[in-house]
This record gives sequence, C-alpha cells and structure tokens, in this order.
Amino acid sequence: MQYNKLGRAGIRLSEISLGSWITFGNQIGLHEVKTLMHAAVDRGVNFFDNAEGYAHGEAETLMGKAIKEFRREDLVISTKIFWGGNGPNDTGLSRKHLIEGTKNSLKRLKLDYVDLLFCHRPDSHTPIDETVLAMDYLVRGGYAFYWGTSEWSKVEIESAYHVADELGCIRPSMEQPKYNLFSREHLEHDYLSLFEKYEMGTTIWGPLASGILSGKYNRGIPNDSRLAKEGWLVPDNFMQLIQKTKQLDVVAKDLNCTLSQLAIAWCLKNPHVSSVITGATKLEQLTENLGAIDIKSKLTSDILEHINKITRS
Ligand SMILES: NC(=O)c1ccc[n+]([C@@H]2O[C@H](COP(=O)([O-])OP(=O)(O)OC[C@H]3O[C@@H](n4cnc5c(N)ncnc54)[C@H](OP(=O)(O)O)[C@@H]3O)[C@@H](O)[C@H]2O)c1
Repeated sequence: MQYNKLGRAGIRLSEISLGSWITFGNQIGLHEVKTLMHAAVDRGVNFFDNAEGYAHGEAETLMGKAIKEFRREDLVISTKIFWGGNGPNDTGLSRKHLIEGTKNSLKRLKLDYVDLLFCHRPDSHTPIDETVLAMDYLVRGGYAFYWGTSEWSKVEIESAYHVADELGCIRPSMEQPKYNLFSREHLEHDYLSLFEKYEMGTTIWGPLASGILSGKYNRGIPNDSRLAKEGWLVPDNFMQLIQKTKQLDVVAKDLNCTLSQLAIAWCLKNPHVSSVITGATKLEQLTENLGAIDIKSKLTSDILEHINKITRS
C-alpha cells in the first residue's frame, strides 16, 4: 500500500480507501462493517470516508462502533456536512448547520475530531465567506484537521481559496469528486489549474461507477446488486456504458486481472488522485479491489491509450 500526501497537506492517506455510502447501515450491519474495516486495515488501508447524510447518520454510528477497535492515530476518518435532516437549518453550509452538523457527526462517530471535513455540496444560498469562516472555526477549534469541498465547480473552489486568503482563514486542502473511466471531466480538465496553483488534494469516489465497471451488469442487473436496489442510480446511457465495459473486460483479461482491478488501478495512475475511495458490500469485493495495487504497474502508456480509445468511442 502506498500512502499519498493529500495534495499540499502533510497528512498521508492510503491510496485505496473505503467509504460507507449506501452500504453501511443500509446493505450491511455492524458485524459486516467491522469485518470490512478490519480486513481493510490489515491490508494497509488507513482512510475511511463517511457523511452525516449516509443512512441518516447510521453509517457514522456503525463506523464509530468499529473505530473503537483501532488506534485512533492509525486511522484517517472523514465526514461530510450538507444533508443533515428535514428542518430548515438541517441542510446546507450555513455557519449554524456546519457547526451543529459537525458536532452531531462527531457524537455518532464517538470521536473528538475527524481528520478531514468536507462541505458535501456547494450552497448557493449561503455567502461563501460565512462557509469559509465556519470551516476555519471548525479546524482551529480542533473538530477537524483539514477541510475541503465535494463536487464543487472550479469557480466555486477558487472563490473559497480567495475568500480564505482575504480573511486570513485556513484554506481548503482537498476536493472529493467523482472519478472513473466514464467520469473524467473534473479531474482531467476542470481542476487542472487548481492542482497547479494550490496543490489541491483529491479523494475520489465512485471508481466502479456504482459497480458497472466491475462487469457485473454485463448480462443484466443481478437481484442483490446496488442498481437493483437503487434504481435511480441506473444512468440514462446504461447500455452504452455496458458496451464499453465489455470491451474493457477484454483488456482486463489480457492483463490477467479483473475488470474492477483494472478500473481502480486506472484511477490510481492519475497523479492528482490522493486516494481512491472504494465501496463494498462483501469481503470478496474489498479483497478483489485491493488487488488493483498490483495492476498499476501493468498499465503502460500503450494500454492507457487503448483504454482511452474504448472509453472515448
Ligand atoms: N462525495 C460524494 O458526493 C460521494 C458520493 C458517492 C460516494 N462517495 C464516497 O465514495 C465511496 C465509494 O463510492 P461508491 O460506493 O459509489 O464506489 P463504487 O466503487 O463505484 O461502487 C461500489 C459498489 O459497487 C459494488 N462493487 C464493489 N466492488 C465490487 C466488485 N469487486 N465486484 C462487483 N461489485 C462490486 C458494490 O455494490 P453492490 O454489491 O451493492 O452491487 C459496492 O458497494 C462511498 O462509499 C462514499 O464514501 C462520495
């Protein structure tokens, strides 16, 4: 396992990490959460991702119970604030919700601090200076070590940096965008100047496009899969993606690896990726996905070019 710096920040994250969206508290309970987290740590994973909105807080509660079985210093824990409930002040990035939301997340996680704290989405209803000042307060107050954004546009992120500098606040350190063989714009285009100017780190999500890039949907939608349970996640261009997935599967077979390993290894090759956040409902999936580390070196420039041709066709 390689441990990457989070952009300019000194903290080191395992190149592959594990997240809890849809899985913890929805598809799997405490026993499975503990099994996955122990197996991940045993293989060198140190970073675990969460959000106040996942399973209405239950994902944090379960992770909090599992965290107790590890030395806190060995873990990097993140949470994300935006969707905290139904009340008028339970969502968004107001000072009130950011501070109350973070404190509630910490209670569920049974932690004094998270390592990384994200603004889960941009909030056009709250002035950016209010958000930056609240995140500065949370970091200076010891509730989090680093703060960042998730799925913000380049312009929105840049304004956060400017406002932080103007007000003498702590700058954001990282963004959490979707990145996989089918979703490349943010990392390979939009954010390039941010990497250059600010050395922004990224913890990318959705490396398997909700499992499509594992090849499990090539012959239909299995009953026990994410897309069977969460039909709203089936993309409009699903059949087009399946055609490409089938071609990518041939590349994986040539490399003697699985398609999931190829797709995750491809994300790991991008130098702007600090950590690839994977998701898993089963131990076998986690074990398979961690095998991507051994495939990285097999992705030569010729193979990457061939993969580009398939995904861009
Ligand atoms: N910042 C954000 O807005 C945001 C958004 C989404 C996610 N995230 C974070 O990123 C993490 C990862 O995202 P993601 O869950 O969408 O990642 P993903 O890798 O695209 O999808 C993971 C899902 O694919 C299936 N899968 C995983 N490995 C597999 C394998 N080897 N073979 C077959 N199926 C496999 C599993 O679902 P089934 O077994 O149910 O089919 C698993 O839950 C999340 O847990 C969360 O922490 C952040």
